[in-house]
Amino acid sequence: MTEDAARGIARDGAAGDGASDATAERGAAQRVAWQWARAEDWQPPTELDTETPHPARMYDYYLGGKDNFEADRRAAEAAIAAYPALPLLARTNRAFLGRAVAHAAGLGIRQFLDIGTGIPAVGSTTEVARRVAPDARVVYVDNDPIVATHARALLAGHLAGHTTVLQADLRHPASILDDPGLKQAIDLGEPVALMLVAVLHFIRDEDGADEIVSTLRDALAPGSALILSHGSPDFVPREMADAGTKVYNRASAPLVLRERSRVESFFGDFRLTEPGLVQLPLWGASEDELPEGWQQVSAYAGVAFKS
Ligand SMILES: C[S@@+](CC[C@H](N)C(=O)[O-])C[C@H]1O[C@@H](n2cnc3c(N)ncnc32)[C@H](O)[C@@H]1O
Repeated sequence: MTEDAARGIARDGAAGDGASDATAERGAAQRVAWQWARAEDWQPPTELDTETPHPARMYDYYLGGKDNFEADRRAAEAAIAAYPALPLLARTNRAFLGRAVAHAAGLGIRQFLDIGTGIPAVGSTTEVARRVAPDARVVYVDNDPIVATHARALLAGHLAGHTTVLQADLRHPASILDDPGLKQAIDLGEPVALMLVAVLHFIRDEDGADEIVSTLRDALAPGSALILSHGSPDFVPREMADAGTKVYNRASAPLVLRERSRVESFFGDFRLTEPGLVQLPLWGASEDELPEGWQQVSAYAGVAFKS
């Protein structure tokens, strides 16, 4: 872990020293010990902690990635034991992300704000967006230091100059929007695709989930999109949903599975595009693209636009 990454910033070099200082200062202010936590005490880490499971690395494990540690693997296995379709959920979620980004880029959106990025892999937002629109710009925001480290490696490669990475917390949307690095990369006066893909279920109502999303929606120009997916108890027996939630609450970030009407409310007055808010694997997929067992994927996905 480099010092820069631990401080919480990896950039394409476009941002000046002021931006790094501001972010480092915020990182220092938020620095807390991160332990096996009671859900109500959970705080995101600001430095790499391999002893405590983290959602980004558990998700990496579900996807078959190698960027995870023993504690992440143990927690991920416990979560899979409670809800065996988790790896399928992760894969279909990544597929949704790709289809939704391609859709937004196809409609002319050139700026992507991907909050809760996860460890970038093949099919990352930058890759998909740039396939459709080579001039697309992407800002990644995640609270896990390992995401920043990986994104920095990505920035050194062929995606350099197109991607900015911020280590920041979704629970502080104003500081994300005010970040000098974001402002340099994204013009909020032009349409942006705001991506909250499989991240909002880590934000509790009491942490202001509704206000967080409305702050972000309000900051966007007409023509902007909200790309959202969210875990839900709606498609599995209640005991299974409860068991999965318990594993996360014990091991990692608190998990809040929400029912359909609550997930829909996050779109506010944005207009959902076809096929609407649907069971995650169904969004934009043809019948022959649906993997076996897709019915077990207990999550919603939708894309909506601001008029
Ligand atoms: C399940 S992964 C989803 C990754 C990616 N969006 C995708 O759909 O493939 C959730 C990501 O959200 C991040 N995350 C969780 N809580 C967060 C918070 N409060 N602020 C920023 N990122 C957060 C985790 O670190 C993790 O990388």
